Order: sequence, then structure tokens, then C-alpha cells
Amino acid sequence: MSRITSLEQYHAEYRKSIEQPEIFWAEQAAEFTWRKKWNKVLEWNFTGPDVKWFIGGKLNITENCLDRHLAERGDQTAMIWEPNSPDEAGRKISYKELHAEVCRFANVLKKHGAKKGDRVCIYMPMIPELAVAVLACARIGAIHSVVFGGFSFSSLADRVHDADCRIVVTADGGFRGAKDIPLKSVVDEALKTCPSVTKVLVAKRTGVAVNMVEGRDLWWSEEIKTVSADCPAEEMDSEDMLFILYTSGSTGKPKGVVHTCGGYMVYVKYTFENVFQYNPGDVFWCTADVGWVTGHSYLVYGPLLAGATTVMFEGIPTFPDAGRFWHVIDKHKVNIFYTAPTAIRSLEAMGLDFVKPYKLDSLRVLGTVGEPINAEAWEWYHKNIGKEKCPIVDTWWQTETGGILISPLAGITKTKPGFATWPLPGVQPVLVDEAGNELQGNGVEGRLCIRFPWPGIIRTTYGNHERCRATYFETYKNLYFTGDGCRRDEDGYYRITGRVDDVIKVSGHLLGTAEIENAINEHPDIVESAVVAFPHDIKGWGIYAFCIDENGRKDVESLKKEIIDTVNKYMGPIAKPDKIQIVTGLPKTRSGKIMRRILRKIAEGETSSLGDISTLLDPAVVEEIVKGAVM
Ligand code: PRX
Repeated sequence: MSRITSLEQYHAEYRKSIEQPEIFWAEQAAEFTWRKKWNKVLEWNFTGPDVKWFIGGKLNITENCLDRHLAERGDQTAMIWEPNSPDEAGRKISYKELHAEVCRFANVLKKHGAKKGDRVCIYMPMIPELAVAVLACARIGAIHSVVFGGFSFSSLADRVHDADCRIVVTADGGFRGAKDIPLKSVVDEALKTCPSVTKVLVAKRTGVAVNMVEGRDLWWSEEIKTVSADCPAEEMDSEDMLFILYTSGSTGKPKGVVHTCGGYMVYVKYTFENVFQYNPGDVFWCTADVGWVTGHSYLVYGPLLAGATTVMFEGIPTFPDAGRFWHVIDKHKVNIFYTAPTAIRSLEAMGLDFVKPYKLDSLRVLGTVGEPINAEAWEWYHKNIGKEKCPIVDTWWQTETGGILISPLAGITKTKPGFATWPLPGVQPVLVDEAGNELQGNGVEGRLCIRFPWPGIIRTTYGNHERCRATYFETYKNLYFTGDGCRRDEDGYYRITGRVDDVIKVSGHLLGTAEIENAINEHPDIVESAVVAFPHDIKGWGIYAFCIDENGRKDVESLKKEIIDTVNKYMGPIAKPDKIQIVTGLPKTRSGKIMRRILRKIAEGETSSLGDISTLLDPAVVEEIVKGAVM
């Protein structure tokens, strides 16, 4: 795999990847362990869409993550686990041990009927068993669908249903800061509506009392005693599904983004090594939960494919205090640290006293992901954490892209705060106007699309290929549409400006407004609601909900509290509205469409420039909403 070490080389590799993409990617793929080499590198069209990489190739990604390293670095630490509480002992798991644990759990899955192609839902806290479960699925060719442990029972049930999972892997509970999260009881609630699930495997973490359903629920610790640590890897085709990961859209329920084995493997390792300029022996810490794509690609698969030492942290940045990240960096001598702008902003707000006690001298590279980073947070991170000597890679990508697409290469690309800079080799960004006309040259702003496939691109949305086509490949002909607005400045640097559709990035988490509205509407008094985003100092964007109360309740404050509880119950705490306004009507066009543009302006406090409201069915409602706006 070619490791880029200079700017000249970046330009040369980029050119080659565009002029001869198949030769370029075949070279990157050559270093992996393939059971059988591919016959053809690429076949594609964006109309189907139908994208295939490394056609005919046979492999198992876990042989590349684990077995391949055993001879050379079997005793090296593969994973450092840092628990929620600094007073609890963590774990260091070597490649040899991880290999054995994965094989054992893979045998447990097999024993309970899981086989190639079956979907397994994983709903767990950030404990090593989570990574083991992910890799064990991959080992036997079962398709993992990890659901973030902060989602509620109904979000979990939707995902279990959609993927038709037969097995769920969970834990009794999880620790997050001062809170205990009762995961198993959430699973129990979800499974009331999921009769297809026949087995639930439960890891023990908090020791909380749980209800074990006879014949269905089994303890992880007991089950692994019954199987051997030898589990030959299933042979997978390059284009067999590796995992499903649900992501929110503008409409309807979340969609199951599908990634396949060969292309994803090649792409995440290539981007991991080049973007972060990983050197053998580096300790890499990605703070994302494995429930999100960042955790899949840069906590589990990318670092393990590269033979790195990856850190998994169970807790939160502010527990027991706002110095925890920096404490963990010193403790484990972290070299590369990858986190989200929200975390940086919230720690910045806590003051430097939490940073000062720590040396942070092991750090070499810093990264951010998930949302635009504002210049102030970038500078703070650069100065106080990187001590002005660590390059910051602002990495832009999506669940659908599998890996990073636009980013500086650490220490090679000159950075500018707020810019993801240039596309990685193999990535061909295009900016278009709303009508789809390509914007040529530099100094332009439009919608970000990609013209040519890269190996980690989404293949389909599970069970509904048409939805994949309509969401990503229909808006602009022959282009993959990202849903993001973007500026290309005079230097050809890309700056992501934010979403142009009805999804909201709250603390870096992607949430569909429609999904939050559906949760709110579960409240018996709410007949209709509309959710929009407003700028938030720490979270990037906050959630503002306008809700119509059918019964005109007088106790508005308790109604608002109930609405929050309802969202918690049906979606989870990450979707909790920051502001709620009870209204008697919503601004709608004569055809019944909610004019979100107006609500967004109101939520942003920009009531003087609401634009033309004459096409509304009832313009008076706007006046009422402006008067009652929550600021
Ligand atoms: O809007 C962009 C934003 O996050 C979206 C993708 O979200 P998700 O699928 O949850 O994946 C997040 C982690 C890869 C994008 O469409 N986004 C991601 N990275 C950046 C970003 N916005 C600005 N700058 C980034 N570096």
C-alpha cells in the first residue's frame, strides 16, 4: 500500500488515482490477505446504482485484522480498554488474545444458529465485547448491525425489524459518567415487538439485576466456556455484505446503509494510514462510539487492519471531570487523537484548568470529524492540546462513504481552520448548483457531489435498493449526492458548510427531523409538530420543536417536560429538544406543506427577515409563533 509522505507524492498519487483508478486501487489492495485474487477491479454505474469492487475476490476481513498480525505482532496490544471510572482497572488485549476471543464468540454465534448472511444486532456499551462481537460476526460472515446504546427501545425495535435479526448481542447495562444505562431492559422492551429474535447473548458489565428469558437469553461468560477458541474464517466474496449501519434521512425511518467486505477493507486501511500518517507502534484513540460509523471504521477496522494499538473508552469527556480525555492521553501515551468538534467546544468552555495538569507530549496528530469545526475551537485545540506542533486533520465523510473522503494528510497538507482541504486519492468531488449545473473553478459554493466511486462507497440500503437510488443517486444525474453544502475556495480547498436537507447534526449526531417529529407526536396531546435546527454554541446545532397541543393544556411547563420524556422514550436522549414552543398552528402552504424556512428563521431569532409569507394558508399563525418564540 502506498504511504504518501510528501505533498508532491500526494499530487502524483491523486493524479494517478483519477487517470488510472483501477491500477491505483489494485495496488492498494495487493497487500491484503486474499483467499483468491479478484478478476476485475471495478464495475459501476450510478444509475442503478450498481458498484462492485475487486470482483471475484475472496477474503475474510478478520484474517486481515487479526490472523495476519499473529506471527509478527501477536503479543502487541491490539486494544487498550479504558473504563468509565478512572478507579477501575482497564484492559490491554493483545492481538493473540483478541483473535482467541473473537474466535470463541464466533463459535458461540454459530452454536446458536448464526451463519453466513444472517443479520446480528449488537446493542452494547463501549466494552471490549462490543468489538469482539463485531469481529465475531465478520468471522463467520454474519452481517452486523450495531445500534448505538443511547437509542431507545423503539429505535432499537425498528432496526431489529428492518434487518430481520434473529440474534441480539447486548450487556446487562453500561456506565456512562455518573449514569447506569439499563441496556438489557431496553432490549426486553424492544423484543416485545420482534418475535423473529430467538437468542439474546448478554455480556455482564454493571451487575444490575436483569430478567433472563428462559430459552432465549444466555450469558456471554457462560457460553464462551462451551466452545473452542478455534474458528476458521468464513470465505467471503468481496461484494458480500459486511455490515448494516442505520442512518437518519430527511423522511421516513432510518435507512440501513450497507457496506461490503473487500472495498470497505481496502478503503479504511488506506485512509487510516494516510490521513493520520500512522506509524507502526503508534497508539491511536478515536473517541467515537462503535454505534456510529466513525467507531466502525477508525476504532475497530482501520486500526486493526493496520496492526495498530487502538483505544476504546467507555466513558464521557467530563467524568469524573473535564480533564478525563487529557488524563487518558497521558496515561496511555496516545499518539493520534481523533474526536468531534462538540467535545472540543464543551471542553474549551470548561476552562484551561482541566488541561494544565497534563503533559500531552505523546500527541503527534489530532483529528476531528462529524460536523464543521469553527475557527475558535480549531485554534483552541491546536494551541492547548496540540501545543501548536500537532497537525489537525479535519476529516469529512459520512456513514455512506465508509471512510474519510476529504481531509488533510497529517503534517503534509497545509491546513486552514474550518477546511477539510483536499480530496483523498480516488475521490472526485464536484460542486453543483441546485439545478445540478456543475460549478467550475475555484471560489464557488454549492452542493457537494462525488463523480466516481471509491472502494468504500455505500452499495445499497438494506432491503430497499430503490431508497438508496432515490436518496443518493437521483437528485443529480450520474453523481453521488452527499446532502452537504460546500465551498471551494481560491486554493481549491473544500469547506463543508452543513446539511442542505432536513437532517440535523446535533453534537455531531445525524438526526432526521421527521423521526423526532414522529417521536413527539406519540405524546397523546400533540397532534402535529415541526422540528428545525438552530445554532448552538456547544452542540453545533440544537433542536427547536414547535408542537400543536390539541387540548390547549394550561400547564405548559409540565407538558414540555412530558414531550421531552416522550422523545427520550421513543428515540433516546440524543434527540431531546432544546427548545419547545406550544403553538396552535404551523405555517403551511395551501397544499399543506410546512414552511420550515420560516420556522428556521424564527428559531434563529431572525424574525425581521421572514421573507414572503403571502402564500401561506393562514399568515396570522406566523405572528403568533413569532410572539411566543423561545429565545
Ligand atoms: O454534514 C456532514 C457532517 O456529517 C455528515 C455525515 O454524518 P454521519 O453519516 O453521521 O457520519 C459522521 C461521521 C463520518 C456529513 O454529511 N460531517 C462529517 N464530517 C464533517 C462534517 N461536516 C463538516 N466537517 C466535517 N469534517
